[in-house]
Amino acid sequence: MVKICCIGAGYVGGPTMAVIALKCPKIEVAVVDISAPRINAWNSDQLPIYEPGLDEVVKQCRGKNLFFSTDVEKHVCEADIVFVSVNTPTKTQGLGAGKAADLTYWESAARMIADVSKSDKIVVEKSTVPVKTAEAIEKILTHNSKGINFQILSNPEFLAEGTAISDLFNPDRVLIGGRETPEGLKAVQALKSVYAHWVPEDRILTTNLWSAELSKLAANAFLAQRISSVNAMSALCEATGADVTQVSYAVGKDSRIGPKFLNASVGFGGSCFQKDILNLVYICECNGLPEVAEYWKQVIKINDYQKSRFVNRVVSSMFNTVANKKVAILGFAFKKDTGDTRETPAIDVCKGLLGDKAQLSIYDPQVTDDQIQRDLTMKKFDWDHPLHLQPTSPTTVKKVQSVWDAYEATKDAHAVCILTEWDEFRKLDFQKIYNNMQKPAFIFDGRNVVDANKLREIGFIVYSIGKPLDAWLKDMPAVA
Ligand code: UDX
Ligand code: ADP
Repeated sequence: MVKICCIGAGYVGGPTMAVIALKCPKIEVAVVDISAPRINAWNSDQLPIYEPGLDEVVKQCRGKNLFFSTDVEKHVCEADIVFVSVNTPTKTQGLGAGKAADLTYWESAARMIADVSKSDKIVVEKSTVPVKTAEAIEKILTHNSKGINFQILSNPEFLAEGTAISDLFNPDRVLIGGRETPEGLKAVQALKSVYAHWVPEDRILTTNLWSAELSKLAANAFLAQRISSVNAMSALCEATGADVTQVSYAVGKDSRIGPKFLNASVGFGGSCFQKDILNLVYICECNGLPEVAEYWKQVIKINDYQKSRFVNRVVSSMFNTVANKKVAILGFAFKKDTGDTRETPAIDVCKGLLGDKAQLSIYDPQVTDDQIQRDLTMKKFDWDHPLHLQPTSPTTVKKVQSVWDAYEATKDAHAVCILTEWDEFRKLDFQKIYNNMQKPAFIFDGRNVVDANKLREIGFIVYSIGKPLDAWLKDMPAVA
């Protein structure tokens, strides 16, 4: 019986291992983490992450062939295959600060594996890491190996949050990179046979180590680039009277381009896109490719521009001041169907509005008050450290209130900003919301979820990203 251990019970490790356990009943899977609260939550009815379909998968396997534990060393020691899915924050200090990946957690995991291992192991890189990390890890392991054979593989995860379970059940591809030596190829085959339990053979791609590592950074960079491209168009649409939804539909009809991932928004968020692009930029710079680095940097610049453009639009529309005005924020997560707020555009938008002294009332169906307060007080890049290293008692953000109901959030507000595309926001009773708001009542839709024309009939002044502007907004142009 093959034993798998995954170090890091986060958004990637948890769901991925749960699906491996479900699809491979004869494999024993242990997910380990240094965070006891996180492991306790995985062992409870209230899982630490919200992901549609995850509860059922965990319930089916937990206690049978899926275990969550803080006994990291024991499970690593017993495993044949060790996945490493720990945090890889952006460095905040020293060489490469603000760009390079901080591999502290990876390195300590690797040293621990070398320390406790008594049998040969396949060590699988699951977190997104810079190209050639596997090589560095290989060095740590082999220099501390006490004669044990370690094979390093790169097996980047392409799941998206909110759809993690269906992405894992039916992946576009599984990518496995390894050394092109007989032992390396054997390790690749061993991991391939795990996925072959449910993934068709032709979707399991095998490459060399560096190609696998770079493919992950490249895929995320391409995806983010699509969003920045459509978001750049959204600014031009607003300036010219075109409608970005119509433009993206027409563009996406070209089969070479395709219709997916062309929704204009207030900006992309999530734990991967910005971090991976910064990483790519740093690698390009280190390899003497400043033009290539500049090219990718622009994807992030447009994303930042889109967020500040949104804030400017809100402030300029409301007579150039939001000071002491209640602004309702609907949605804080970085996308719908997740409670994850890592790099959510809502953080920058809220900070921008707070900078102009607004009073915020925030409602998100999945994000807790504690998380919101933490996010709005945390420094850039600090989010990607294990929870216990983050500030637990944030300095109070008196101007932020979070509530558990959209109607409560919008009551007496001057404006509503929609920052996440939760389905429930489409079904709100906007007449009721309008009646309870200050007038003129504004709606700034950062996700194009509401029917602007219907809201205008009710009496709202409506701004939708990339859509023709109301006369009111045209009279009060935003300075980006
Ligand atoms: C992404 C990749 O999709 C996934 O393959 C990788 O493994 C991890 O990073 P994730 O961050 O979970 O996944 O979410 P994704 O669906 O890619 O969305 C990222 C951000 O882009 C979200 O803020 C989303 O709202 C935004 N987005 C997405 C848009 O603004 N417009 C779109 O058309 C699509
Ligand atoms: P991802 O989105 O990549 O899954 P997360 O931040 O959700 O990232 O999860 C990473 C997890 O790794 C955290 O729960 C953290 O506590 C855990 N972790 C970090 N370093 C170690 C380590 N050395 N040993 C065990 N767990 C670790």
